[in-house]
Amino acid sequence: MLATGAQRIAFDDWVDAMREWHREIDVAPDPEVVLSTKFSDTAGTEIGFGRYAGERRWESVAEIPQPEIKDELLRLIVWQGDSEVRAVEQARQLLDSAPSEHDRRRLVRHMSEETRHGWQMAYLLVTHFGDEGRRAARELLERRATRGEALLEMFNVTLNWVDVFSWHNWGDRVGKYQLTMFAGCGFAPFARSIAPMLQEEGFHLVIGYQGMQRIAAAGRVPVEIHQRYINRMLAICYDAFGSEVSSRAQKVYDWGLKAPWSGGKVDPPRANERARAAFIEGGCLISGNSTRRRSSLASWPSSIAPISARPPPRRRPRPTRARSGATSTPATSSRTSTRAGGRNRSPCATPR
Ligand SMILES: [Fe+2]
Ligand SMILES: [Fe+2]
Repeated sequence: MLATGAQRIAFDDWVDAMREWHREIDVAPDPEVVLSTKFSDTAGTEIGFGRYAGERRWESVAEIPQPEIKDELLRLIVWQGDSEVRAVEQARQLLDSAPSEHDRRRLVRHMSEETRHGWQMAYLLVTHFGDEGRRAARELLERRATRGEALLEMFNVTLNWVDVFSWHNWGDRVGKYQLTMFAGCGFAPFARSIAPMLQEEGFHLVIGYQGMQRIAAAGRVPVEIHQRYINRMLAICYDAFGSEVSSRAQKVYDWGLKAPWSGGKVDPPRANERARAAFIEGGCLISGNSTRRRSSLASWPSSIAPISARPPPRRRPRPTRARSGATSTPATSSRTSTRAGGRNRSPCATPR
């Protein structure tokens, strides 16, 4: 769908507000990252799951068969967009203390790409969701991670230059899982947004993985301390997938908004749990620690203890806000504490 003149003007206004937001948080984007929308032309034309499986994907909000589906789609895009722009604010707090020019430049590129992802989500909101979308896009730029206002709790966490690499390796990996599931969304403009975002996210994972390797190789951070940072980040990431059994996950599957994690049996109420189990298994593979098989990526430096050395600390959900994640699909239930398999269960044990 081509944007109308009014939609273009509305988005130009949003871009002006975005530049003002950059000035306020003192971010100069990487000139090599072009701030623009990007759409893939490889997304299929049919919905692949749920009650509308086999039907043509919706090109506009007017084609969405029920207002509740539109409302949920809007919410998902808002949470995704919020995660993108809050990631910029979170990273910005580290920029002035970068340990090297190499790290500073990587962080600038990361912030610029996350800005582009926020731009992409804002474009969807402004172009497709009328006044409600324009208001939501404006509000994306009004919240602040530095004031603890990120919709997804993991973006309210203050990072340092040890745990930022864990954050990129694990936190951006959560994003990769969630985006991959959104690639199946029945709303075509959202589905087509995903592949370019995923491509850029790949670099964020590289920043994290290589940074953790460098910390291990330098030998200045005791392994025990580094392990604690990694465990803390993993616990946050586990939570970000949402509750094990989720009526909302069931709904977004049924409505064709979020595909189940690929492979295996489809069990919509347990979609969050299945995606989290895949995340845990993937993490075990890259750390060369799988109980099932070894990965060719199993080159984790021996000076880092395997991530199964200690179960992650249990975290209490914040009582005031029912966070689930921009991209996760929480249950209406508030149970959150046993997702990684229980207190004494290694996260690298075979996922259930
Ligand atoms: Fe992103
Ligand atoms: Fe990212």
